[in-house]
This record gives sequence, structure tokens and C-alpha cells, in this order.
Amino acid sequence: MNICIFASGAGSNFQAILDAKSKGIIHSNINLLITNNSKCGAVEIAESNYIDVIHISRKVYPHLDYVQYLNLFISALRKYKINLIVLAGYMKKIENEIVREYKNRIINIHPALLPSFGGENMYGINVHNAVIESGVKVSGLTIHFVNEEYDRGKIIYQKCVEIDDTDDAVSLQKKILNYEHESYPEVIKRIENGLIKIGD
Ligand code: GRF
Repeated sequence: MNICIFASGAGSNFQAILDAKSKGIIHSNINLLITNNSKCGAVEIAESNYIDVIHISRKVYPHLDYVQYLNLFISALRKYKINLIVLAGYMKKIENEIVREYKNRIINIHPALLPSFGGENMYGINVHNAVIESGVKVSGLTIHFVNEEYDRGKIIYQKCVEIDDTDDAVSLQKKILNYEHESYPEVIKRIENGLIKIGD
């Protein structure tokens, strides 16, 4: 497979995917990083691994209309012959046209057990704050296909993580992130092996 990573932040999941490739756990090509944030950690990771980076942000292209803007994504994905898009801490909503063109070919990782603790403002530490405040004893991570609604696409993998009495949002975030780094490559491996079907 040819994979494009979409990321906006530190990029630790992106790094974990690259590590899994260098250990031979996964075999796909990681061809491209698309980011809305040219100064994020994920860009540094891509550059130090000689992976092409395309920076697409409304701030850079304020003069483009919707179709032209959308075409920046579509033409990049086609040029690199991408067949799997992996969202790894990407802070923007994927445009509906891209979701349709890459139906069941876009996966996302969310640091809680969906369908709880998901939705538009549920990102980063907000998720873990909400989990801790709710008093639940178990959280975890979810990997799902992306559809037109935030965090509502078909779930393909989940892992539970116990919440200890001593956990706060920050410690929980750290704990779950470590599991994310194992789980995301595992799901990519399952896709490569045909155990999880992608596409139509
Ligand atoms: C992860 O917690 C992931 O679940 C969420 O965004 C965070 C990205 O972290 N979607 P990183 O940039 O991979 O370190």
C-alpha cells in the first residue's frame, strides 16, 4: 500500500508507524505527509526520514475557492497513488468529497472508547479531562474509518486501558498514547494482511 499520513501535532503516532516499518512489522510505503501546520513535530519527523511533506492550510491559500482548495488534497493523493490515508493527530475535518473518494480508506485514531467521548471538541487533553470528570474506570483507544461525521465512522479496533485512582488527565493521556503506538501499526498490519478490508 501507499500511505499518506495526515498530522498536525507532535507526530508520535507517525513515528511509531515509521518504527514499525523499519522493524519489518509493516511493509507499506509511507509516501507522503499532509499537514495544516508547517511547524509541527510531524514535519520534522517526515523531513528527517526523507518523506515528502505537503502543507495545505486555508491560511496559505486564502484566495482559492472551495473546489480549488479541495483539489490540492485530491491531486496530491492521486500523484502519490495513495490507497490508505492514516490520520495521526490531524486537527482538521476531512472534506466530504475526500471521504467519498477514499471511502473506507481513511483511518483515524482516537484516544478514548468511541462512541463515548468523541465529537467536534473532543481532542487532545479535552478527551482525557472529560473521561476523568465522568468517573468511568476504563478508557482506551479507538481506530475507526472516517466518514462525514466527527468520530462516527465504523470502528475497526479498540483497546481498553484501566484508569487508576491516581490517574489524572495527563497521566491517562500518556498511558493511552503508549498503547496507541502499538495499536496503530497493528491495524495497518491487519489491513496489509487482508484481515481488515479497506475500500468498497
Ligand atoms: C493522539 O492522542 C491521537 O489519538 C489523537 O491525536 C493524538 C496525536 O498525537 N488523534 P501524536 O501527534 O501522534 O503524538
